Amino acid sequence: MTGRCRFDLPRVEDTRALGRLLGGMLHAGDLVVLTGSLGAGKTTLTQGIAEGMGVRGPVTSPTFVIARIHPSTVGGPALVHVDAYRLGGGLELDDLDLDTSVDDSVTVVEWGHGLAEDLSEDRLEVVLDVDPATEARTATVCGVGGRWSQPTTDGARAAAGTTREPSGASRAAGPFEELGGQPC
Ligand SMILES: Nc1ncnc2c1ncn2[C@@H]1O[C@H](COP(=O)(O)OP(=O)(O)OP(=O)(O)O)[C@@H](O)[C@H]1O
Ligand SMILES: [Mg+2]
Repeated sequence: MTGRCRFDLPRVEDTRALGRLLGGMLHAGDLVVLTGSLGAGKTTLTQGIAEGMGVRGPVTSPTFVIARIHPSTVGGPALVHVDAYRLGGGLELDDLDLDTSVDDSVTVVEWGHGLAEDLSEDRLEVVLDVDPATEARTATVCGVGGRWSQPTTDGARAAAGTTREPSGASRAAGPFEELGGQPC
């Protein structure tokens, strides 16, 4: 496991901005597993991911359709947005009869913890938390597998609107600190 980072998300816009940064890092075949209680911000983060990837929106909660495909507007992979809330067992995207595959798309799964892990050995796990006392929101981003042991790509820096070269320290610490997260 590499590159575990925490982000403070005081405003809706911060959640979207983190999503945009992550969206700029994602390639075909990537899996993002979103965990967090009801209303924690999973769909909001996915909206940002969609913006960062340059896919066609709008991204809304897919609760009643289980999955939606958002095709790219920039010649990149499609975004497959899945809501696993109502799924009982392990997630088999083949069963959903989507017109795309995990290898060709970026798959983002809300409520995916414990269900979506079999889709890919490499995955980005994002846990969204809301402190019940203070309502402070945070995201913890954790890359699992060799895919995420690499530093962020130029795409991520472009999405972040900066051409700043990461310092040697942040490269060594994993791919997410460069996005402004606190190591944890
Ligand atoms: N960082 C934030 N600060 C304040 N409000 C936020 C933040 N992120 C999201 N919200 C708000 O919280 C509400 C729920 O967000 P969202 O639908 O993204 O959550 P969710 O985790 O997808 O919910 P569900 O569990 O129903 O799928 C929305 O009104 C959204 O605007
Ligand atoms: Mg949602």
